[in-house]
Amino acid sequence: MKVIKEPAQIQQLVDEIHKSGRSIGVVPTMGALHKAHRSLIARARKENDFLIVTIFVNPTQFGPGEDYKSYPRTFKNDQEICSKENADLIFSPDEENMYLEGHATTVNVAGGLTDYMCAKHRPGHYSGVATVVAKLLNITKPHRAYFGQKDYQQFRVIERMTKDLNIKTKLISCPIVRENDGLAISSRNKYLTKKERKQATYIYKALKEIALKIKSGQEISVSSLYKAIADNIPEAEIDYADIFDAKKLYPVTEFKKDVVIAAALRLGKARLIDNVVVKKGVD
Ligand code: PAJ
Repeated sequence: MKVIKEPAQIQQLVDEIHKSGRSIGVVPTMGALHKAHRSLIARARKENDFLIVTIFVNPTQFGPGEDYKSYPRTFKNDQEICSKENADLIFSPDEENMYLEGHATTVNVAGGLTDYMCAKHRPGHYSGVATVVAKLLNITKPHRAYFGQKDYQQFRVIERMTKDLNIKTKLISCPIVRENDGLAISSRNKYLTKKERKQATYIYKALKEIALKIKSGQEISVSSLYKAIADNIPEAEIDYADIFDAKKLYPVTEFKKDVVIAAALRLGKARLIDNVVVKKGVD
C-alpha cells in the first residue's frame, strides 16, 4: 500500500492524474478504520479511477479535554483495509506537514448551520473540520469526496464551505452503517463498557420511533425524544436530542419540510451521535 506524507508530493501526483483525464475519489478519515469507513472506500473505489484515502487525526477539531491524545490510532490495520479495498494511495501527513509553522488561516463556517447540534456543544470543532477538509481537498483535488451521513452537520458544513470557497469537488453523502443491533458504527464505540454498549442501542430505537410518528402525522411534544433517551439511558449526559430542519439545521416543531432527527450524548467515556432523516412525502 503506497503511503505519502508530503502534501507537495500528492499535489504533483494528482496534477499528473488530472492531465491524463482520470477521475480522483477521496475518502477523508481520521483512521481507526472500520466497516463504515470501508463502505465509503468501497463506493469511492467503484466510482473513480484513482482512489485516495486520507488518514489524519486532526488536532484542531478536538476541544480541550476531548480525546485527541487517546483517539485510537491503528495505522497498520488501516493500511490492510485500504489495501483490501484496492485504494491506490493513503495520504497520511504528520501534523507538521499539515499545519506548517506559523499556520494562521482558519475556515469558519458561520451562520445558522453552526448554531445548533454538535456545533453548540463543541465550540471550534467545525472550524477545525472545515479547515482541514478545505486543505485536504486542495491537496488532493478530487472529482468526488465521500462522507458519512452519521456526521450529518459535518456534511452540511463541508457542503457550505466548498460552495463558499469555490471548490469544485462533488460531495457524496453515504448512508449510516450500523451494527446488527442498530448502533451506528463509530471508532468511539470501543470506549463503551458492556452495559453502556447495550444501553447505546436505545438511541437508534428512539430516533426511529420519532421518525415513525412524524411519518404517520402523529403529534410529537418538543421534548419527547430527549425524554425517551433520558428515561432509557439514565447515565447518559445528553447534549441534544431534537428535530432539525434537514437543510438549515435549526430546531423545528412543524414537519412541513425534510427533517433530521438527531441526538448526541456522552455515555461513559464515549460521545455518541446518530440521526435519522425523514423526507417529506417519502415513506
Ligand atoms: P472519521 O470520524 O474518521 O470519519 C470519516 C468518515 O466516515 C466521515 O465522513 C464519517 O461521517 C464517516 N463515518 C463514520 N462512521 C460512520 C457510519 N457509522 N456510517 C457512515 N459513515 C460513517 O469525520 C471525520 O473522520 C473527520 O471529521 C474528517 C472529515 C476526516 C476531518 O478530519
